[in-house]
Amino acid sequence: MTEVETYQVDDEIAKNAWVDEPTYFKMYQQSVDDPEGFWAEHGKRIHWFKPFSKVKDVNFGANDVHIRWFYDGTTNACYNCLDRHLPEKKDETAIIWEGDDPHESRHISYGEAYEEVCRLANVLKAQGVGKGDRVTIYMPMVPEAAYAMLACARIGAIHSVVFGGFSPDSLASRIQDAEAKMVITADEGLRGGRKVPLKKNTDEAVTNCPTIEKVLVVRRTGGSIEWEDGRDLWYHEELAKVSDDCPAEEMDAEDPLFVLYTSGSTGKPKGVLHTTAGYMVFVAMTQQYIFDYHDGEVYWCTADVGWVTGHSYIVYGPLANGATTLIFEGVPNYPSPSRHWEVIDKHKVNIYYTAPTAIRALMREGEGPVKKTSRKSLRILGTVGEPINPEAWRWYHDVVGEKRCPVVDTWWQTETGGIMISPLPGATPQKPGSATRPFFGIKPVIVDSDGHHLEGATQGNLCIADSWPGQMRTVYGDHERFVQTYFSSYPGKYFTGDGCRRDEDGYYWITGRVDDVLNVSGHRMGTAEIESALVLHDKVAEAAVVGYPHDLKGQGIYAYVTLVAGEEPSEALRKELNDLCRKEIGPIAKPDLIQFAPGLPKTRSGKIMRRILRKIAEDDFSNLGDTTTLADPTVVDDLIENRMNRG
Ligand code: WTA
Repeated sequence: MTEVETYQVDDEIAKNAWVDEPTYFKMYQQSVDDPEGFWAEHGKRIHWFKPFSKVKDVNFGANDVHIRWFYDGTTNACYNCLDRHLPEKKDETAIIWEGDDPHESRHISYGEAYEEVCRLANVLKAQGVGKGDRVTIYMPMVPEAAYAMLACARIGAIHSVVFGGFSPDSLASRIQDAEAKMVITADEGLRGGRKVPLKKNTDEAVTNCPTIEKVLVVRRTGGSIEWEDGRDLWYHEELAKVSDDCPAEEMDAEDPLFVLYTSGSTGKPKGVLHTTAGYMVFVAMTQQYIFDYHDGEVYWCTADVGWVTGHSYIVYGPLANGATTLIFEGVPNYPSPSRHWEVIDKHKVNIYYTAPTAIRALMREGEGPVKKTSRKSLRILGTVGEPINPEAWRWYHDVVGEKRCPVVDTWWQTETGGIMISPLPGATPQKPGSATRPFFGIKPVIVDSDGHHLEGATQGNLCIADSWPGQMRTVYGDHERFVQTYFSSYPGKYFTGDGCRRDEDGYYWITGRVDDVLNVSGHRMGTAEIESALVLHDKVAEAAVVGYPHDLKGQGIYAYVTLVAGEEPSEALRKELNDLCRKEIGPIAKPDLIQFAPGLPKTRSGKIMRRILRKIAEDDFSNLGDTTTLADPTVVDDLIENRMNRG
């Protein structure tokens, strides 16, 4: 492994930062030596109706996994994001909304957001939604998406946000699993000048969702939509009917806050459940320290609220800290590839947090579109979602940040609730491609396939040895699956599913998933989900999906498809299979390459040997390892001869 250069901490940044290097080491040591004491102190950063006296009750042992934090206190997530700031920040900007169209933007004060959320919470109550009920949110990137999340939190309803790019079938299965009572959606979304038929998709989804009583519709574009009287309600009409007085429900620390579906290596996406207090403490604390957020700064996370990054670092973390958070409706290359940089100048963004896939796409456009803009407001840059290649890191640092902004490469997962491994701007020298060091309270361990701890500079599978407040608590409705997925491979530890290297300086380098999960443009997808979609086609006998390195997306989707006897491969069929994945899951699940294969490499017991398929998809078949155990070794020659990725 060739070593890359180190970027030292900037003195100016360190001087004004919340945490400098000596402080980091001191606090980190405290946090692992005395977790109870450390979190008892930092748990106070949120507002409690009834303060906690118990800090931590955790067991990672496979026969009884349970995780509780601050568990005798009561609080409310929405109260912490809004009410609490009103005395000082009523007229300060909570949300800057930047529309898809560059001429559309709005500033929303804490006072305005509070009033709107209270009204919406009253609408939910009037429609029979109460504490513990589930509400599915299927929205474009408009302020109402954040209001919907906060209104649920205010009354103790559990939200389940479904990314607006998912298909009606995916939406339906998530509604069904959560047994949601209501969907909050919009007539249409708007992205890159194109309309997204959210209400139409919702109509299609809810025909198979008997638990849905009401569909609340935000008018975004005014486009024509179908309407079902008695079920469908206009957001603006209902809000006008209710008062803006709605006290926040007193919630137990461990009451659920939200469910968010994410893909695993097997089966259907699982509902990751996060609870109230620990999550809030963790996202608020990480947002402050990792982005070195200071009062009055403008902070922009470009994620979609449909993903965990949007939950923790557009909505809950920044608002809990009284920050100004920017919500952007559009895409990086519309109307031009300068858009992000123009938004930064327009709103004087200080902290910008995006994904490697976006950085690579913008890097392709060259320096021109960046250099047209000033970006002098920028202070901190962040990345998340997948390993960042050092070349993209350097471009981000040198061109976008003009070498003056530290880059925080933040490693975490839907399951972890918040950032786990990352530099701190004033404390951590950075190495391009490394997420560097663990955040306070996080104990990463690297294990070999037998679960032995590997010490020092090493490489293996990444586990976390002890709990942290933002950790997921269970899989919604299936605790057994939670235990199986995360605590059975390496008993007594949380297994992340990621491979990882640790260097001589104790820096962590995430190498990617070690399970059958793909990371395509930062979006998580299970190979099993795509395979299930492909085999729905009546001409398909069998399908196997693997990832392969893709310049722009990080990983591309490579599907091997075996047709039923008598069927012939064709371009038309390829298109049908693409459409099927789009329909079943969403556009992000379309295979990049489909290879029609007369047979798949299987062991004599019938298990598909994915290792071989991965190698061929990577166009690296010189060393396929042992193929003698295959039931029919000759299938490999055909796979190689007809491979789709050459060079
Ligand atoms: C990957 C997104 C390398 C990793 C917050 C993880 C990363 C999965 C990084 C979680 C990073 C996320 N460096 N890999 N900085 N951040 N990943 O649940 O494989 O959508 O397991 O959460 O993304 O994806 P998820």
